[in-house]
Amino acid sequence: MADDVLRRVPFGGSDGPRTVVTGGAGFIGSWLCDALLEAGGEVICIDNLLTGSLENLRTALSSPNFRLLEQDVSDRVVVRGRVDCVFHLASPASPIHYQRHGIATLRAGSAGTINALELAQRNDARFVLASTSEIYGDPSQHPQTESYWGHVNPIGPRSVYDEAKRFAEAVTMAYRNAEGVDTGIARIFNTYGPRMSTDDGRVIPAFIGQCLSNQPLTVAGDGEQTRSLCYVSDTVRGLLALAASSEAGPFNLGNPDEVTMLELAWRIRALTGSESEIVHVPLPQDDPRRRCPDITLAGDRLRWAPTVSSEDGLGRTIDWFRRRDGRARRPLSALGAQGGHPNGRPRGRGATGSGDRVRARELALTGTTEAPASSMRIPDQAEDPR
Ligand SMILES: NC(=O)c1ccc[n+]([C@@H]2O[C@H](COP(=O)([O-])OP(=O)(O)OC[C@H]3O[C@@H](n4cnc5c(N)ncnc54)[C@H](O)[C@@H]3O)[C@@H](O)[C@H]2O)c1
Repeated sequence: MADDVLRRVPFGGSDGPRTVVTGGAGFIGSWLCDALLEAGGEVICIDNLLTGSLENLRTALSSPNFRLLEQDVSDRVVVRGRVDCVFHLASPASPIHYQRHGIATLRAGSAGTINALELAQRNDARFVLASTSEIYGDPSQHPQTESYWGHVNPIGPRSVYDEAKRFAEAVTMAYRNAEGVDTGIARIFNTYGPRMSTDDGRVIPAFIGQCLSNQPLTVAGDGEQTRSLCYVSDTVRGLLALAASSEAGPFNLGNPDEVTMLELAWRIRALTGSESEIVHVPLPQDDPRRRCPDITLAGDRLRWAPTVSSEDGLGRTIDWFRRRDGRARRPLSALGAQGGHPNGRPRGRGATGSGDRVRARELALTGTTEAPASSMRIPDQAEDPR
């Protein structure tokens, strides 16, 4: 899958593309790193481990073509050598994380995006921004097309994220128009799959965790609000297809299979065989009532569409959570990374020791002890190989 898309990638010399992934230790970023490595490129991940983890990088860390730079993209981005493509994913992404790290979120979307763009500019590289459906706010148009401008509360609890991403899109277009940087913008809709963190408040891991432990299933409001949920391998394929093109976008990347939160709760309950009762809790402020992408544009220009059904994707995700919960965690010191957090859990801002300063500590990543169980595939065909 990744190979098909990367075969079309115009960047890279004879020795393969050299790609930077900011936020590569996160949920989507780590799968993107794995896909790029599987396709034969060299990957440099820049992450300050604010919400990501070394655990997500177990597979990538075993590759000699992978390197992790522990840097805060909001301060400075330093990469030695040639760069062919920059994917900018670094940002807290779940409501719990971005509300806890509001200023860091605004900085990642503003200064962080500028720093990532300038890295691309210095290298004449392709640049792909991971924007979000949140830029549509609580939309008054359904499904949302890329031409819809959104309905966003600029000072509400979600604004640190929504406005950071809206600025990120604006500055990306400015560097394209004024500086000629080869940019592309992806508006990612809700994505799910293995490696999601259970405690960041996102609905799928929350429901799965509640079902697997037979705790009450907490549905916000009346549960009639909708989301469209895209399996992570489909999202990663979309990002790769955008990178392989010279399109500016923005492009919606999501699965138009719209589901109410109540339906989703019942579906996960049935798939896990759980007996959890469904209870209703207050709806968070500014929670969007409906979310559904129109993906016509990505289909026409990128030849991209999601392929994983919700039954399939949810089944694989539930299997992964089951295996993860049953698995004894191996110490991450075995990965050879210096100063990593030993239990693989996110560290707080203070614990990174970076504050607002650059911390360009390069972790030693080659010669690690973990080898992937088989050739790496992102999980549309394979289970998580760990
Ligand atoms: N998961 C989704 O459903 C979804 C939907 C829309 C958009 N997105 C976007 O995709 C990207 C990845 O989301 P995710 O779900 O994988 O989130 P995540 O929290 O798992 O990953 C984000 C990564 O960025 C890193 N990071 C944060 N601030 C940083 C900084 N200043 N410097 C360096 N690294 C930093 C974190 O440590 C983490 O590894 C985000 O930009 C998010 O806005 C995700």
